[in-house]
Amino acid sequence: MPGDFMVESTLYIVPRQGLHVAILMDGNGRWAEARGLPRSAGHRAGVEAVRRVVGGAPALGIDTLTLFAFSANNWQRHPDEVGALFGLLETYFFAQALRAAEHDVRISVIGRRDRLPSALVEAIEAVETATAKHVGLDLRIAVDYSAREAMLRAACWMMSSTEVTQEEFSRRVGQVTHAPDASPDVDLLIRTGGEQRLSDFLLWECAYAELHFTERMWPEFGVEDLENALREFRARDRRFGRAPVSAASAVSH
Ligand code: IPE
Ligand code: IPE
Ligand code: MG
Repeated sequence: MPGDFMVESTLYIVPRQGLHVAILMDGNGRWAEARGLPRSAGHRAGVEAVRRVVGGAPALGIDTLTLFAFSANNWQRHPDEVGALFGLLETYFFAQALRAAEHDVRISVIGRRDRLPSALVEAIEAVETATAKHVGLDLRIAVDYSAREAMLRAACWMMSSTEVTQEEFSRRVGQVTHAPDASPDVDLLIRTGGEQRLSDFLLWECAYAELHFTERMWPEFGVEDLENALREFRARDRRFGRAPVSAASAVSH
């Protein structure tokens, strides 16, 4: 509306055909410990689950997949475990950079970079550059990520902005987490490993996300589990505050 004090902007919204699924990949450590293995073995098996899910996602109607790999609070873990995780991420990113031509997947990393080892930052930059033009699937990996911190940093930026819209805030959240675009709303959030909490993941983007919690430990998660979650998701009535469809035709309001 002309003259309205709040200027609605669609400038930064990239139209999306598919779903944005976010996964809190939890349970690697418990999966390993239950088998008498070191926690790092659980993380290694977790990378295989990532490969399976990334491979299966586009055929299931997903065009954006955000995976939580390392939270800002995970620095509290033993340095050996942190080192093992970073080593796996570095290997994964370099391998994906080298094999970029084989997959139409754009990989980007969201979170802070200033505390990561330089070799990991190099791997991140290599894979982002090698896959930047790919459009088949937008794969976002959250590393040293905290939703609260991202929102605080975005809010600081907004203080000098004249445009106070949700789209602008999403764009700022993308910017402060090094994402290539505005941070998109999540359609479905999956958490494996049996816990039912958000652990500071995508708090802004999940405002209207459907939530799916499963007991399955991440190393055992497969494409069929993703399919099940999506089947359940598609059966839900996403009302976004509206009355249920059945109530719309009811006589009394
Ligand atoms: C998820 O698995 C991966 C990371 C948090 C890095 P966990 O390592 O948290 O596994 P559990 O929850 O201890 O089993
Ligand atoms: C959340 O898992 C972070 C990742 C999956 C990377 P955590 O295992 O760190 O979460 P909490 O400690 O159970 O909340
Ligand atoms: Mg955990």
